[in-house]
Amino acid sequence: MLFFTPGFAPMSRYLMTALMHHQPPLGRKLAFARARLSARLLAGLSRPPATTSVRVMGLTFPNPLGIAAGFDRRGELGRQVGALGFGAIEIGTLTPRDAAAYVASRPVRGATDTLLGINIGMSPETEPSQAQHDYLVGLRAVWGQADYVAINLSSPQAAELLHPGRRETLDALLVALKREQRALTAVSGRYVPLAVKIKLPLESVALPETVTQLAALRFDALIAALDVGPPATPQRYAEWQTPQRQRQACDRIERLAAMLTGRLPIIAVGGIGSAQHVAGRLRAGAALVQLHNALVYEGPRVALAIHKASLQAG
Ligand SMILES: Cc1cc2nc3c(=O)[nH]c(=O)nc-3n(C[C@H](O)[C@H](O)[C@H](O)COP(=O)(O)O)c2cc1C
Repeated sequence: MLFFTPGFAPMSRYLMTALMHHQPPLGRKLAFARARLSARLLAGLSRPPATTSVRVMGLTFPNPLGIAAGFDRRGELGRQVGALGFGAIEIGTLTPRDAAAYVASRPVRGATDTLLGINIGMSPETEPSQAQHDYLVGLRAVWGQADYVAINLSSPQAAELLHPGRRETLDALLVALKREQRALTAVSGRYVPLAVKIKLPLESVALPETVTQLAALRFDALIAALDVGPPATPQRYAEWQTPQRQRQACDRIERLAAMLTGRLPIIAVGGIGSAQHVAGRLRAGAALVQLHNALVYEGPRVALAIHKASLQAG
């Protein structure tokens, strides 16, 4: 129970920073293990915090905080993270093979109100010209399990698809995904929203044409990954804590929201770790937020701490 006491937080942050500096893979493993243990303990001990639900993509999220893809890559935690104060988790990125394995191991949809997004991508060996095949196979595999599916175009491999020279391949992929969504809805009788995750460089003023295209094709949401680029070091995490960097991120979301005029809800991810960060992104126009590295550095109580601070701020 030590890591639920308030005095433990600064010490834990210091130790995690040191560990992430010297042994990042071990640090991430430890962060995941802490989250899993905390979710189990809290599920048995306490009731989830009273939070305000939000309707996005036709779904009711118990609160706007979600866990971004990559933290629970294989979906071992899944909806259990509701006990940590999260309204949603995005598992993956799953390649077609991972998606089949995940579904085979979890044939039944969970029954909690914590929502499950499944982030799908390409196999490492797939050429960009063959991307459509992998995304469609992944989509069909996870359809029955997911509350929403995230199409990951934010990976270095998928970045190729966003290159202006690949415009036709990307357009064909997006059209095929929407067509498949309609077909699967007809067969299953259940609409599963599709969100698309794209990296948006913080410094750039221009907005990618792809964003306009997503709105025109009526995708259900844009996961705007505000990115300062790899690697995700403790120094990078610290840089995100500066007011300038936070303002830059909020400005970027504000410009996106102004351009999209409500046609495509924005899920903001990147540099979020406190109640102030969350409030800033929501004020700027994001409908939901996701966090990843904050779970590593701030620990598994980060969402509960954000809810508490938000309540106190009124
Ligand atoms: C170690 C690591 C693994 C990640 N893996 C994925 C992934 O598999 N799929 C994905 O869409 N994003 C992945 N991401 C990106 C995160 O989802 C998120 O967009 C990014 O970390 C920025 O959010 P943060 O500042 O809250 O960490 C990964 C990030 C990190 C640091």
